[in-house]
Amino acid sequence: MTLTAPNQTGSSTKPQAAEPGAKPKNAPASVVSWVEEIAALTTPESIHWCDGSAEEYEAITNLMIKAGTLIRLNPEFRPYSFLARSDAEDVARVEARTFICSASPEDAGPTNNWRDPVEMKETLLGLFRGSMRGRTMYVIPFSLGPLGSPMSKLGVQVTDSPYVAASMKIMTRMGIAALNLIGPNTQWVPAVHGVGAPLEPGQKDVPWPCNSTKYISHFPESREIWSYGSSYGGNALLAKKAFALRIASVMARDEGWLAEHMLILKVTNPKGRVFHVAAAFPSACGKTNLAMMRPTIPGWKVETIGDDIAWLKPGRDGRLRAINPEAGFFGVAPGTSPKTNPIAVETLWGNTIFTNVALQDNGDVWWEGLTDKAPDHLIDWQGKDWTPESGTPAAHPNSRFTVAASQAPSIASSWDDPNGVVLDAIIFGGRRSHNVPLVVEARDWEHGVYMGATISSERTAAAEGTVGELRRDPFAMMPFCGYNMADYWSHWLSMGETLRKSAKVPRIFQVNWFRKGEDGRFLWPGFAENSRVLAWILDRVDANAAAKDTPLGLVPLAEGINREGLKVTDEDWTELFSVDREAWFEELNGTEEFFANFGERLPGALSRQLGDIRNRLSQP
Ligand code: OXD
Ligand code: MN
Repeated sequence: MTLTAPNQTGSSTKPQAAEPGAKPKNAPASVVSWVEEIAALTTPESIHWCDGSAEEYEAITNLMIKAGTLIRLNPEFRPYSFLARSDAEDVARVEARTFICSASPEDAGPTNNWRDPVEMKETLLGLFRGSMRGRTMYVIPFSLGPLGSPMSKLGVQVTDSPYVAASMKIMTRMGIAALNLIGPNTQWVPAVHGVGAPLEPGQKDVPWPCNSTKYISHFPESREIWSYGSSYGGNALLAKKAFALRIASVMARDEGWLAEHMLILKVTNPKGRVFHVAAAFPSACGKTNLAMMRPTIPGWKVETIGDDIAWLKPGRDGRLRAINPEAGFFGVAPGTSPKTNPIAVETLWGNTIFTNVALQDNGDVWWEGLTDKAPDHLIDWQGKDWTPESGTPAAHPNSRFTVAASQAPSIASSWDDPNGVVLDAIIFGGRRSHNVPLVVEARDWEHGVYMGATISSERTAAAEGTVGELRRDPFAMMPFCGYNMADYWSHWLSMGETLRKSAKVPRIFQVNWFRKGEDGRFLWPGFAENSRVLAWILDRVDANAAAKDTPLGLVPLAEGINREGLKVTDEDWTELFSVDREAWFEELNGTEEFFANFGERLPGALSRQLGDIRNRLSQP
């Protein structure tokens, strides 16, 4: 049997809701035939077509409570909320098992795991054959982006995990309304997900079925996703990293737009002028904190449009516009507290699925950092008794909350605008103890693309790898770009050309909240105080606030950023912007080595930018 991407033909009449879980009458023929094909391969016991209703969500979560997958939290403290505990081996995205299966290995490039698409399909067909035995296969139609927006895309995921079905209800616009948008010629992305744990008749299920063999496979040319063996986050919620970044980045290259690992903010200054900013940070740099920031400086207001992914496209007026393709937040819980992110804490009042956090004796949740003092007793993320003496984390460092974006008190009314919002500035950031200043403005788009291409970040305990080690993460897209990273840089450069021809181009900045002094202390307080940096960035955009030229780009004058009430001394300030020439020459040598991996595909503009910085640093 060979499986191909579905031909995109369907019925002309709109689907209608039917009995709960039944196939909607007049469901698009292209979807029906694909679902039948996958069902014939995987042989589930039953098929449930998701309509996206609240009743359906309740039925699926009740089923999971019975199966032991979910624990209902105490409604007195956390109404309509659940705790899931994953298998101890299924706790994070698995980059080593994530594959880009383009026809040519060069099209995946040196930063992706490439596999031959024909061989990968064979392997997957073998693994998926009969793999849903004894389980229900959920059919999940979804829209990435506002329903019906010209910037949105449609997809259908099948999964034999009710946890994934319930999470997709929160994370996307899911159900009959999305299915309704699939017409005879509508393009939609098929995504197959299986836990890889068929049930024999009478076999008792486990709370979190999964398989030690894992494949997260992307077929950029046929625009398909196949994921096997994991139910955790981006491995399984295939609308997120797999579609909205890896497959969408390829669609964006071909169609003239950008699919980015960026949060989106709406910011209003004291004069009432509204700006929109998109910002790319590697994982574990506080993106959700920035996305929900409550500014500490008077008169400024920050609202949330998205916390993880942005799709950017030139509008009819030529200006770059942004939408958040997602409808929910899948945020890291540890470290989220009333001090670091009060808005996230308020957002999580209820209607939330928590995964791998700890359970308090009163039936509420807890994670490291939520309160200064840990409770005397907890049940940890693996279901074991825990006390502060246990010496292990009570919540897994990558434990998560899944909650609707609309529930954030900071959500902007424009977050769901089908036309998107006009972008004024783009920010690139990373976690760097040394070298990288608090904030630098790029000289122009090309220099900004160089800044994005050279993002690197120190690893934290939240992900695999040695803590503190520097990881290159261009545009924060290293694990998420569905094609050759050098071609992606060329695409960014050409987008600059397109924008420059017809409209104002967003200004580009680089930030680093994490610089340390020689004594190992953070020089900048971070969190809500980052609003002061945001204010300078937007003062630059609005009124060209004063800046100083340095070899690395334009930086604020000493009085350019309001430091009132902060413990940042003049010495700290100088250190925050100091440029150690020797360290920078080393940094540039490292970048040159990294760029060399891309051979002839490296855009000349990036080598030129590197040479320019070297020259500027060489000048006395
Ligand atoms: C995420 C990530 O989960 O970037 O958003 O890893
Ligand atoms: Mn992310």
